[in-house]
Amino acid sequence: MVTPQLPQTHTSYTLMAKQNCRSKISSIFSDGFLFAGASIVALLVVWAFWSFMNTSPNADPSFLTTSADQNSALKTPVDPVSLGFNLRYDPPDPTFYDDPDLSYTMEKPIKNWDEKRRQWLNLHPSFIPGAEERILMVSGSQSTPCKNPIGDHLLLRFFKNKVDYCRIHGYDIFYNNILLQPKMWSFWAKMPAIKAAMIAHPETEWIWWVDSDAAFTDMDFKLPLDRYKDHNFVVHGWEKLLYEQQSWTSINAGVFLIRNCQWSMDLMETWAKMGPQSPEYDKWGEILRTTFKDKIFQESDDQSGLAYLLLKEKEKWGNKIYVEGGYYFEGYWVEIVGTYDNITDRYLAIEKSEGRLRRRHAERVSENYANVWEEHLKEAGYGRYSWRRPFITHFTGCQPCSGDHNQMYSGETCFDAMQKALNFADNQVLRKYGYMHKDLLDSSSVFPVPFNFPA
Ligand SMILES: *[C@@H]1O[C@H](CO)[C@@H](O)[C@H](O)[C@H]1NC(C)=O
Repeated sequence: MVTPQLPQTHTSYTLMAKQNCRSKISSIFSDGFLFAGASIVALLVVWAFWSFMNTSPNADPSFLTTSADQNSALKTPVDPVSLGFNLRYDPPDPTFYDDPDLSYTMEKPIKNWDEKRRQWLNLHPSFIPGAEERILMVSGSQSTPCKNPIGDHLLLRFFKNKVDYCRIHGYDIFYNNILLQPKMWSFWAKMPAIKAAMIAHPETEWIWWVDSDAAFTDMDFKLPLDRYKDHNFVVHGWEKLLYEQQSWTSINAGVFLIRNCQWSMDLMETWAKMGPQSPEYDKWGEILRTTFKDKIFQESDDQSGLAYLLLKEKEKWGNKIYVEGGYYFEGYWVEIVGTYDNITDRYLAIEKSEGRLRRRHAERVSENYANVWEEHLKEAGYGRYSWRRPFITHFTGCQPCSGDHNQMYSGETCFDAMQKALNFADNQVLRKYGYMHKDLLDSSSVFPVPFNFPA
C-alpha cells in the first residue's frame, strides 16, 4: 500500500454538539459555550483540520517486523474466506469456559488471556489457519425504539452496510443492542460488548468496533493489517494535534481496532475505570477536563480517556496504540459527502477504460477486482482531497436514532447526507447483483445494469 500523503489545510468549520451527544471530531476548541435550553449544554467547537502532517514514520508499512509474543500456531497465513471451520467439534478438554471464576463482566478482570486463548485454539485446530488476521466487527445501538421516527430505518441501513462489507471480506459481525453493564451507557456501552466479544470469539485476532452511525463507503478497501503488526489498538487521529495541542478531539474513539489479547483486557480495565460505573468517574471528569483545555464538559468520556492514556501513559499504553492518519479509517461526513459525485465520475471513467473492471463476476471474488482497481488508483491519494472512495464516512453529530442532531446542520442535511452515503455504498454492492441506483438521493429505485456497463 502506498504511503498516503495528506495535504496541509486550514479550513475550519464551526460545530456544535449537545453535551450528551458528544461530538467526536478532530477539532480545536476555541469559541466558548453555548446554552441551548435549561438542561442541555451545547458545546461549541471549532473544527479545524489543523496542519495535517504527512503520515508519521509509523505509518510506513515497511517497518513491519514479526512480533515475538505471538503464538506460532496463529501464524499460518490462509485466505480467511476459504476456511473450513469445524463448527460441530468442541472436545471435552477443560478450557477457560469451564472455569467458574472466569467472568464476562467488566467488574472482574481476566488474567492470562493470551494463554487461555492459545489453549482453546490448540484444542480447535480448524480455527488456527488464518487466525492471525481474523476480524470480528462489533457494533451496536440502544435497546429501545429510536425517538426519531426514521431512526430505526436508518440504523437498519447502517447495519446492512456493515453486513455487506463483512460478507464481501469474509468477516464476522456481532451487533449488540443492550447495555451489558447498565451504568455504562452511551459511548461507554461498547466496552463490555467488546470484552464479551473477545471471550466469545477466541478464534478472532481483532475486534473492530464501528459506531452505528458510521458507513463503509469503499466496499473494496481493506484494513492494512500488516501496518499494525506491532500494535494492539488502532484509532483514527492526528498525533501532532494530540501531543502538541492536547486536544481531546485529536482522535476519534467511534471506530477502532483492538487486538484480542491480554494487553487489551488490561487496557479496557484501566480505561473503564474512567466510566460512569466506576467510583473514580467524577475524579476522572476533573482530570480529563484539566488535561484537555478544549474539553468543556465535565463528564469523563471514553475518547478523552483514551487520549489521556496516549498522552500521559505513553510508555505503558501509547506505544502499542497506532494513531492512523493515513486514510479515512473513519472520516467526518461534512467534509466527505460533497465528494461522492466527483468520485463516482472518476471511477466511471476508469471503468470505461478498463475492460477487466466491466466484467461481471460473483460477489465472492470481489477482492480480485479490488486489486485491479488498485492499479488505477495509484494517483488517487488517501483521505482528504483524494479522489479515492472514502473508506468510512462517520455521521458524527447527526444522531440518526434520537434525531437530536447537532444544531449546526439541519436534520435534512444530515438525512440527505446519510441517504447519499448509504446509496453510494449500496451501488458498489448492488452492482454485483445486477442493479444500481440512478440517483444517490433516491433510495427506492434502481435500474438493471447493462452488460459491459459503462463502456
Ligand atoms: C467536482 O469537480 C468539478 C469539476 O472538475 C469541480 O469544479 C468541483 O469543485 C468538484 N467538486 C468537489 C466537491 O470536489
